[in-house]
Amino acid sequence: MKVNGHPMRSIWVESDGVSVGVLDQTRLPHAFVKVRLSTAEEAAHAIRSMLVRGAPLIGATAAYGLCLALRVDASDAGLKAAHAMLRATRPTAVNLHWALDGMLAALAPLPPAEREAEAWRRAAALCDEDVAINRSIGEHALKLFQAAWEKKGKQGRLNVLTHCNAGWLATVDWGTALAPIYLAHDAGLPVHVWVDETRPRNQGAGLTAWELGQHGVPHTVIADNVGGHLMQHGMVDLCIVGTDRTTAQGDVANKIGTYLKALAAKDTGVPFYVALPSPTIDWTLRDGLKEIPIEQREGTELSEVSGRLPSGDIATVRITPPSSPAANYAFDVTPARLVTALVTERGVCPATEEGMLSLFPERRAARGTGS
Ligand code: MRU
Repeated sequence: MKVNGHPMRSIWVESDGVSVGVLDQTRLPHAFVKVRLSTAEEAAHAIRSMLVRGAPLIGATAAYGLCLALRVDASDAGLKAAHAMLRATRPTAVNLHWALDGMLAALAPLPPAEREAEAWRRAAALCDEDVAINRSIGEHALKLFQAAWEKKGKQGRLNVLTHCNAGWLATVDWGTALAPIYLAHDAGLPVHVWVDETRPRNQGAGLTAWELGQHGVPHTVIADNVGGHLMQHGMVDLCIVGTDRTTAQGDVANKIGTYLKALAAKDTGVPFYVALPSPTIDWTLRDGLKEIPIEQREGTELSEVSGRLPSGDIATVRITPPSSPAANYAFDVTPARLVTALVTERGVCPATEEGMLSLFPERRAARGTGS
């Protein structure tokens, strides 16, 4: 996507060929800061502290983290230790496991001397694959947007509500839920986005709003509790969100608060779509509520807020009484029954096991469900 008119990705190999560049997403939208990752420990820290975040980008950063580890120690023990360290950085997004386990399986059989070069090649391929997947999700979801626009009689604007940031900052490029928004805007559809602020870390207010602004997409930031009211008053034509892990029966884990938007959408008859890259499907799980691990983060993310002062300085202030504990659940699970459809790189399907298997038939044999 473009920043100040210049195309860029959210992660890249630096010109030295042995370090990796990312944007510090904790500084956006107030400061545009590039950070160089030179060691696996720095890559792990970037994921844990959310310099980089979003399920696909976490996976890509971890893959490069493994490359950085192999520069120092390409032995069996070194590979295993780096894999374990990076895998433990965040618990909910399954892309992290997908990327690291895939790299490990490909690299472990190789002689240590060949591992590093192959790791860089695979990490780059993984990034290119992410871009292609997201573009394809965008094209499939664009058809849903066009249908909604027709249904509306092409009057006014197409109002889309999204939660958190599932844009290019959360992926290598394009984003998942935001990909169709960019394509629709570029195709001349008068799309307008309601951007949930997404407390406590404000990925909507800070990142989605910034991305959409860079691309010139009309949008309005709303408090997290507003979406239901807008839906009740016919001010939302469709919702589309990303996901960190979707089970084989279509239960969707995404940023905390997604479930409440899906409930409101169900009650008001607003379509609720989930943009789902295949690496985000956890085929080993069925019941999302029981089986998906939900990350809990520091209470200070809730009890403190950072922002820009009129002077331009960034300040952090406390908003809760010092003695009040805070519980910071970072994700929730939206049951499949509340999801109108899943949009994958292979097309659109119902949020059911059968629906998903119809798009990924190669999984049937693996699941032992016949052909
Ligand atoms: O905690 P975060 O910011 O990593 O959470 C990100 C989300 O919940 C996104 O919606 C999800 O990763 C999908 S990104 C395409």
